[in-house]
Amino acid sequence: MSKIFVDACLGKETPYTPVWMMRQAGRYLPEYKQVRAKAGDFLSLCHNPKLAAKVTLQPVDRLDVDAAILFSDILVIPNEMGMELTFVKNEGPKFSKPIKTKEDLASLGSGLEVAKKLSYVYDTIKILKKELNPSKALIGFSGAPWTLATYMIEGQGSKTYNICKKMLYKDSKFLHEILAKVTCVVKYYLEEQIKAGADVVQIFDSWAGALEKDAYFDFSWKYIAQICTYIKQKYPHIPIIVFPKAIGTYLDDIYGDFDVFGVDWSTPMELAKQKLGNKYVLQGNMEPCRLYCKQETSQSIEKITNIMQGSRHIFNLGHGILPDVPVENAKHFVDECKRISRK
Ligand code: CP3
Repeated sequence: MSKIFVDACLGKETPYTPVWMMRQAGRYLPEYKQVRAKAGDFLSLCHNPKLAAKVTLQPVDRLDVDAAILFSDILVIPNEMGMELTFVKNEGPKFSKPIKTKEDLASLGSGLEVAKKLSYVYDTIKILKKELNPSKALIGFSGAPWTLATYMIEGQGSKTYNICKKMLYKDSKFLHEILAKVTCVVKYYLEEQIKAGADVVQIFDSWAGALEKDAYFDFSWKYIAQICTYIKQKYPHIPIIVFPKAIGTYLDDIYGDFDVFGVDWSTPMELAKQKLGNKYVLQGNMEPCRLYCKQETSQSIEKITNIMQGSRHIFNLGHGILPDVPVENAKHFVDECKRISRK
């Protein structure tokens, strides 16, 4: 059965513009909170294939989005490399021992060995392949090496990235060593997800915008492009989506073997279309807070649809949905994307 989402990723004609939402499986859904409470803490939910598959399917059932995104977290990679991870309530993720020295880096697992430890993720995918409606696509994902490294070096989320940047300017060779080690795990991790049944993969570079242009291409994009080349050579039929957040002024220099470019909400869609629309399918980019107001949501969808007329497009938000969005507003977004793009 052909999947409209996969067709759209590959640039084929579709009856309407398919839609999904970043962070669509999460706390704005009461049924997610129920399962999450049953699992105990967040990481236990990620480690439990049955429950992870269940929450993956919740937004598909509730909203009728065109794709499911595997329920997991980008930080399971550093966790399985050997870094102790906790999610502190209202504070987000924390690593107890951030990477400071060469010895810290050397003590971490690498490559295929780490990818194999993430077997619970592949088990979740295998369950989903059986349970997901075959007209819907399953998206696997990973964090980009740079975004993962920011957590591994800072030990938590950061506003300034000062520890990473000190390393970048004072010991760039060491930062490259960290990035290269993470890149190697990401390649195998995405490959294993594809082998388990992921139809599409997305690479989240959420903290791309923290770097100035030259540094971005040297410390982040270069590694993303390597991952894309590796996956495309082996699995040319699997679409790759990249999502580098907040690098709208760097679009002229984007290159590489991927299919879909995720446009974040700070980058005007007109600009993305002008710079990248001929080469790649564009995904995005409604400002997620517009979901608080149905009228604003509809207006934004109309506007994006008009801009993307005649260009290849997938609807999404320009970053993740927030936990206090009413479910009916999320449903309104999905319904409106389909209605307006069918016209
Ligand atoms: O629905 C989906 O998108 C699939 C699941 C998913 C989660 N995290 C679940 C999650 C995905 C794709 C992610 C990616 C992720 N995780 C990113 C990249 C995307 C982005 O939003 O920029 C990043 C930077 C992370 C790291 C992370 N995980 C943070 C900073 C936090 C805490 C902040 C928060 O939203 O609470 C998490 C926790 C997390 N990951 C939750 C969920 C549903 C909330 C945990 C809970 O249920 O308590």
